[in-house]
Amino acid sequence: MDLLEVMQKRRSVRAYTDQSIPMDTLEKVIQAGLLSASSRSIRPWELLVVREKKTLDAMSQCRIGSAKMLKQASCAIVVLADEKKSDVWVEDCSIVMANMHLMANSLGIGSCWIQGRLREALDGRSTEDYLRSLLHFPSHMRLEAVLSMGMPAEYPEPYTIESLPNEKVHWDIF
Ligand SMILES: Cc1cc2nc3c(=O)[nH]c(=O)nc-3n(C[C@H](O)[C@H](O)[C@H](O)COP(=O)(O)O)c2cc1C
Repeated sequence: MDLLEVMQKRRSVRAYTDQSIPMDTLEKVIQAGLLSASSRSIRPWELLVVREKKTLDAMSQCRIGSAKMLKQASCAIVVLADEKKSDVWVEDCSIVMANMHLMANSLGIGSCWIQGRLREALDGRSTEDYLRSLLHFPSHMRLEAVLSMGMPAEYPEPYTIESLPNEKVHWDIF
């Protein structure tokens, strides 16, 4: 499969079976994250891989309405960064998220981006503070997002090249 085909098949998957993700597959997803480009190659990010069911269940309350799938997930990767290391840590973390999400799709793993930065938990705290007290990451580590993962229990339709929003592309002048 070429990369464009993988990208057409990439979809957010929010329903998972009870089956766990094989360790070698999970390692490949992590490697895809670690292979990410970063500004000045600083790599300000850290990945926190959560597999404990009880913790995943508690994590499902880290967002109002948008993180419920963590209850069913067999794994989640929390993407954090040291904001003092780079002023473009948000961009760097986003690339890690996108690469892991795409790799997961290509390996038959369902995954979904859960936004963490600038978002609120069910208990009124910020998603970042909620996850910090649950997962014990230090205060200088900022939260970008969480990638929920599991063996897919739903298969959203792939995108087609014909349906791409080509009107968003401007050539030479806007
Ligand atoms: C920056 C960003 C934040 C997102 N946050 C959430 C989220 O908090 N919860 C969720 O269920 N999906 C989230 N998504 C997934 C989008 O809803 C999804 O990508 C969009 O609906 C398009 O569907 P597709 O990924 O299947 O193409 C997010 C995606 C991005 C790129």
